[in-house]
Amino acid sequence: MGIESTAHTLSIGFVDEAGKLYSSESALFKPEEGGIHPREAADHHSVVAPNLVSSLMNREDFSQDDIVAVSFSQGPGLGPCLRIGASVARSLSSFWKAPLIGVNHCVAHIEVGRNQTGCDDPVLLYASGGNTQVIARSGDRYRVIGETLDIGIGNMLDKFARNHGIAFPGGPAIEKLSQKWAGNISADESELLTLPYGVHGTDLAFSGLLTSAIFHSKKLPLEQVCYSLQEHAFSSCIEVAERAMAHTGKSELLLGGGVACNGRLREMSAIMCEERGGQSFWPEKQYCIDNGTMIAELGRKELQSGRITELDESAIDPSMRTDSSTIAWT
Ligand code: ATP
Ligand code: FE2
Repeated sequence: MGIESTAHTLSIGFVDEAGKLYSSESALFKPEEGGIHPREAADHHSVVAPNLVSSLMNREDFSQDDIVAVSFSQGPGLGPCLRIGASVARSLSSFWKAPLIGVNHCVAHIEVGRNQTGCDDPVLLYASGGNTQVIARSGDRYRVIGETLDIGIGNMLDKFARNHGIAFPGGPAIEKLSQKWAGNISADESELLTLPYGVHGTDLAFSGLLTSAIFHSKKLPLEQVCYSLQEHAFSSCIEVAERAMAHTGKSELLLGGGVACNGRLREMSAIMCEERGGQSFWPEKQYCIDNGTMIAELGRKELQSGRITELDESAIDPSMRTDSSTIAWT
């Protein structure tokens, strides 16, 4: 069993010992207005947790004897939210007498993608709300080759959406508005606004792009600004991903994180990989957004490598880094 609670979503999922993934049961905290307050999200998670566990156990007809281990997101994420997931995991683990496994949420996004797509040694473009990183394995770590210097790409999209009264998550709404605009223009480049393009070597930045897009949206059609926002933000990620592939000599690109649900980002990654003789991969949408199944999958790999988490080592780490975890498997 895997328990995910890094931010807005409490999600629980399963994987079997051979790596078969089971769809998660999830509950999303939606604030009435504004952004996510960590303590309000944590309260939400603690209220919905018992029903989520029992409904998933019933759905799959599992009993406690079927649970080999309980894994949870130990970090990175919002402290109050992480603490709820960790408490649920500790309770179930001790009640069911199943080992406890604390895992790195970022690494879980990678491993569920490898499981789902069958890619072997990819460069990963991890594009979510809070994180935007380009990652590649080197030795026993997933190394961060480049990342955002300010806000995550998804948070940027969500903030732009919120500025126009569109509720969280804003990314899917911006995708729809962009598609409307793209469907109406016939590859006329003058329709693409020039916005700040935040590539700094292998690092990225999105706050200037956000400010500029908000400015333009006061005068121009929202669809046109959404389209231009996506084109700039995604091109910058794909550029850094391509640079990482060239540096590392790797030929696979794997997308992960909630923004990897986006059809245009997927299309750009396919075009770039095809042009350089590589291959691009992305998991199903349910495994791009935060989900308990990916936490279970990483827990499975940790367990099969002989690693479990003792109670006194199970404290959460809100600022855990992708490269702070050693990788013991191939
Ligand atoms: P992390 O803790 O890994 O940073 P997260 O808490 O941001 O993850 P995810 O579920 O991985 O959560 O990603 C959510 C983000 O994905 C939101 O910012 C949302 O707007 C964005 N998103 C979801 N679907 C799409 C889409 N189709 N296009 C663009 N962005 C999307
Ligand atoms: Fe995530």
